[in-house]
Amino acid sequence: MSKSSETRLEELQDLEPSVAEFRASVVEGLSAPQKTLPCKFLYDRRGSQIFDDICDLPEYYPTRTERRILERHARDIAALVGPEARLVEFGSGAGMKIRLLLKALDRPAAYLPVDISREHLIAANTDLARTFPDLCIAPVCADYTAPFALPDLPGIAHKATAGFFPGSTIGNFTRDEAVSFLAGARDLLGRGAVMIVGADLVKDTGILRAAYDDAAGVTAAFNLNLLRRINRELGGTFQLAHFRHEARWNAALERIEMHLVSLRDQEVMVGGRRFGFDKDETIHTESSHKYRLETFRVLAAEAGYEPLEVWTDDKQLFSVHALRTL
Ligand code: AVI
Repeated sequence: MSKSSETRLEELQDLEPSVAEFRASVVEGLSAPQKTLPCKFLYDRRGSQIFDDICDLPEYYPTRTERRILERHARDIAALVGPEARLVEFGSGAGMKIRLLLKALDRPAAYLPVDISREHLIAANTDLARTFPDLCIAPVCADYTAPFALPDLPGIAHKATAGFFPGSTIGNFTRDEAVSFLAGARDLLGRGAVMIVGADLVKDTGILRAAYDDAAGVTAAFNLNLLRRINRELGGTFQLAHFRHEARWNAALERIEMHLVSLRDQEVMVGGRRFGFDKDETIHTESSHKYRLETFRVLAAEAGYEPLEVWTDDKQLFSVHALRTL
């Protein structure tokens, strides 16, 4: 099939995690001495919508700061990537930042958004296809922390490949996970590809705490929604009013942690298993690591990348790294 002037929105490649995988992860996480739940499950339909609301909060500076950096440097990025590139976005979400890049790129060959939320992926890309009617869009519903393959796009030739991982989602991985994600992305993209990664910077802890515990309680709703999802999808018996959201700064690991704190001694059933909670015991639901410019470069080098450029905002809140796969 050749590239036509009509919108080309490919059929979605669906690798969304199953309910069985969700149940196994929840049971394993709640059985650990420090109870945990994998943060990737925060993003069901409602969770993805709440996350979009978080991005607009006055306290949540990463989204608008990164967007400004991308606006300012979209042409620099386009020059590094080169013409007729296929662009793979990891965790495409609402797909807003990609528009900045797609507008700046020289005749992009294809856009391959990869996201865990199928519904979000369909909605965002139907909309994107209207804005970029000549672009081949090939959505992939997958957990991009595990190996997956890019779909073949017969008839779509590309001269370069670029990766885009914005939003400091890399911060939601442990350091080892971040290295292994970047190494996997390097294998997927191939040698000589440009990888653009947004990384939130270490900063004043007051700014960080407010960003993860906003006055309107949107982040609290985002965190508690995970329990609602467990109740709905796994027949859980969590009472949301018996837990509260907490954002903690872990100074040793330079990360913000989201926890759900049990307000009383209680028992909860999930997947036919009983889990006991002491009052004040927590479920650790997400870590958001903050980086320094140099520590991020070292991490990227370990994963097989060379640094090309790094851009920050005037207040040094956020960084966007341009790397190249070796
Ligand atoms: C998606 N990720 C980069 C967000 C973050 O800042 O770590 C998720 C988030 N959690 C609470 N607020 C935002």
